[in-house]
Amino acid sequence: MEKSSNYYFSGMDTVALAQKYGTPLYVVSEDIIREKIGVIRKSLLDKYPGTKAFYASKAFLTQRMCKILMDETIGVDAVSSGEIYTALKAGVNPEHIVFHGNNKTPDDLTYAISNHVGKIVVDSISEIELLSDLVSGLDRKVELLIRTNPSIEAETHRHMNTAQKDSKFGVSLSQLQNAIKIIMASDHLHYSGLHFHIGSQLFKVEFYLEAIRKIVAQMKVIKDQLQIDTEVLNIGGGYGVDYIEKDKTVDFAVFMDTIVSELNHLLQENELKLAELYVEPGRWIIANAGITLYSVGTIKEIPGIRTYVSVDGGMPDNIRPSLYGAKYNAVAVNKADQPKRELVTIAGKCCETGDVLIYDICLPKLERGDYLAVLDTGAYNYSMSNHYNMTPKPALVFIKNGTDQLSIRRQTFEDLLSCEIINEEV
Ligand code: LLP
Repeated sequence: MEKSSNYYFSGMDTVALAQKYGTPLYVVSEDIIREKIGVIRKSLLDKYPGTKAFYASKAFLTQRMCKILMDETIGVDAVSSGEIYTALKAGVNPEHIVFHGNNKTPDDLTYAISNHVGKIVVDSISEIELLSDLVSGLDRKVELLIRTNPSIEAETHRHMNTAQKDSKFGVSLSQLQNAIKIIMASDHLHYSGLHFHIGSQLFKVEFYLEAIRKIVAQMKVIKDQLQIDTEVLNIGGGYGVDYIEKDKTVDFAVFMDTIVSELNHLLQENELKLAELYVEPGRWIIANAGITLYSVGTIKEIPGIRTYVSVDGGMPDNIRPSLYGAKYNAVAVNKADQPKRELVTIAGKCCETGDVLIYDICLPKLERGDYLAVLDTGAYNYSMSNHYNMTPKPALVFIKNGTDQLSIRRQTFEDLLSCEIINEEV
């Protein structure tokens, strides 16, 4: 069949998808996810023995996503009991889960331990003390990584910096030995190694190298002073994806070669050994694998100032532009062959001035009823979606090998009220 002039995403006619499922609609390509994981496999897992990848599921998590990860033998970096629950429901081997969080509650930790989650990444001394109490009657050892705070100011949006000195995350290097001593004092906790995650949307490998230098120095101190080996180093996620200038997106292979070679050099120099190196990419795997389809509604021209084109979604399905000033690209999917002559601003439908998806983008002349795709919405869109203005969440369709499958149905008004309890006395 001849292709129409519509915009195709991962081999699928997006106009047909919008007409079949309605809008707003999240579309996620399993083919692109597997392609990205393929790059990680080739440039890290197959190339360097002892390396493992854990997908940061906060970026996008559904049971189907878990099944893809299982099939690709990629682990899950979970940050809540809800994420662990989702992974376990989908059949993920608990051994393949690492559990993060700066304030895991006793219930969270008990849930993770009783489900035999592979590694708990402790974030503070206070958490280690809590864990020591929780595991006291256990008949086995719980494996821990310590999330360190290497005190690094990475270049990114300030809400995505996580390893600066003044951060809620991680044990500062000056308290590391103390943290390990508390772990060693428990018969049921095992110190496996160290973790850092410097931030998200990082485009320079130097920040990782700086952290690695500081951490290897700590490994040496731990070895010399406490006679303890650090078996695992987990260097987190954060590998940057540029949504506008694609060639600026981190070249994963180059990053990994640079990191592994520096790490090996430092380990050798300090006569240290590591058994395993972990990475936790989220965005890098999923960002380009998703788009969001919208219908165009009201068009308002303010002569000499700007033209607002409003769509039937916005900050409830993509809060990132209003939260971080995140920039996205868009395509008028039913007019993909027409010249882009109009400078417009794509606004959402919420009662909020900041609900703008894209400022100043050149598109073909749009009319009510046209379809628009905002591109690269795979990461932190569905997972950060909300019900602001009592907006039901969009449906989500997976595409694979030229076929589409509804994966999450569109929410209804009843869904919005499904947890509310009517108190008769009011
Ligand atoms: N590991 C840890 C411990 C993390 O905290 C994160 C992200 C990741 C891995 C994955 O980072 P990625 O590879 O996806 O950059 N909501 C923000 C991003 C905050 C991410 C927080 N932690 C956004 O929409 O951009």
